[in-house]
Amino acid sequence: MERYGYVINGGTPLKGEVVISGAKNAAVAMIPAALLVDGVCRIENMPHISDTDMLLTIVSELGAKVRFVNRSTVDIDCTHVSFRDTPFDLMRKIRASYYLIGAMLGRFGVSKTTMPGGCNFGERPIDQHIKGMEALGADVSIQHGFVYASARDGKMHGSKVYLDKVSVGATINIILAAVLASGRTIIENAAREPHIVDLANFLNSMGADVRGAGTDTIKIYGVEKLHGGTYAVIPDQIEAGTYMVAAAATGGEVLIKNVIPKHLECISDKLRETGTIVQKYEDAVLVKGASNLHKTNVKTMPYPGFPTDMQPQMAVLLTMASGTSVITEGIYDNRFKYAQELLKMGADIHVEGKVCIISGVKTLTGAPVMACDLRAGAAMVIAGLCAEGETVIEDVHYIERGYEDFVGKLKRLGADISAVWFPDRDDAPARITIAG
Ligand code: EPZ
Repeated sequence: MERYGYVINGGTPLKGEVVISGAKNAAVAMIPAALLVDGVCRIENMPHISDTDMLLTIVSELGAKVRFVNRSTVDIDCTHVSFRDTPFDLMRKIRASYYLIGAMLGRFGVSKTTMPGGCNFGERPIDQHIKGMEALGADVSIQHGFVYASARDGKMHGSKVYLDKVSVGATINIILAAVLASGRTIIENAAREPHIVDLANFLNSMGADVRGAGTDTIKIYGVEKLHGGTYAVIPDQIEAGTYMVAAAATGGEVLIKNVIPKHLECISDKLRETGTIVQKYEDAVLVKGASNLHKTNVKTMPYPGFPTDMQPQMAVLLTMASGTSVITEGIYDNRFKYAQELLKMGADIHVEGKVCIISGVKTLTGAPVMACDLRAGAAMVIAGLCAEGETVIEDVHYIERGYEDFVGKLKRLGADISAVWFPDRDDAPARITIAG
């Protein structure tokens, strides 16, 4: 069977500069949010990744006019959108399709979506999303893999919602359903991630009234309508963190540009604990790898704690740190699938439920491995960059959901990495390099 993947020859320290793209988890909320705007939203610094491409296709099917002004600026005109069936096969592929529930209820008073897809970390329910929609006056049912929702009297009404669990998705979905609702909505125990603040700023620039984003209590005062405008997505905290860890793990020296250092504080501090040097500038961080890495412990928490989306990348770094490190996954039930892939590369790693114990080894060795999900895939790339010999990574489509031009950016930092097609045909070479 033909396959597509990355081929990496490891051992080269990364050197140079890399520019961070727009935040995936902000952009995938803004595209559905554009449905609420009766006019043209110009979104700048839009990352070019498959998740955003899929969401732009979905909103186009609802009647939005989508036009790329340039590679990272897109106009979305939702003046003439209407409720209709949308490409459910695309919705099933990504987690962020659940934002269409809040956006469609807010705009149309009705929504039909599929249960969301996304990376498999064990159970990922949407009960808190449903709790929020019902609190704002919608009837919600899940049948045959679809989520049906409709506002009981055709319009959403502000209400108070206490989230039983800190949930980024539920917090964002309730904001989307509330901005055009009648009256005030209060979200208690809200998530505080940077992309929630970015979405609130985006909506407020279009005439919404969202207050307190970034704290655990968010108030939304419903308005009649939203007008068009221009907004730039914040830099991606996790993409930046991924390059920081790659620089540290390969023993390189990389200036990571177009970042908001405050969003990276937890990652910077954790890297410093391993002996890595991290210098902060206005909108950049410089990372210098240590000659020998020290062990440390990590516990993932909601923002401003250590982000779960940086957990796999940190694990790779710690496989080469002296001593024994412990990682505790505080958000998901099962986010250590990549450990089995690292074992193939000679790592000393052991998982007990939500805890991963890592004893440092001198070096990793290249091997054929899989990308188990988006961030695990990025972690395997980092492992390949550090390992002796060749690593071939398959299922890299996961990685391309969330990292713009990953191969190109790494090559420009000196990495020996190529995107390769394996045609698996007698009349073709074994490997055909696509980008490298
Ligand atoms: C968002 O997922 C991100 N995805 C994830 O990033 C990220 O890992 C996660 O937030 C946590 O930061 C997007 O933004 C598209 P949650 P989300 O709701 O919204 C439980 C990446 O790599 N929960 O904050 O799905 C849930 O099971 C991706 O970019 C409920 O129990 O995360 C989890 O244990 C991976 N009921 C915890 O809460 C609900 O209704 C946090 O989930 C919702 C969530």
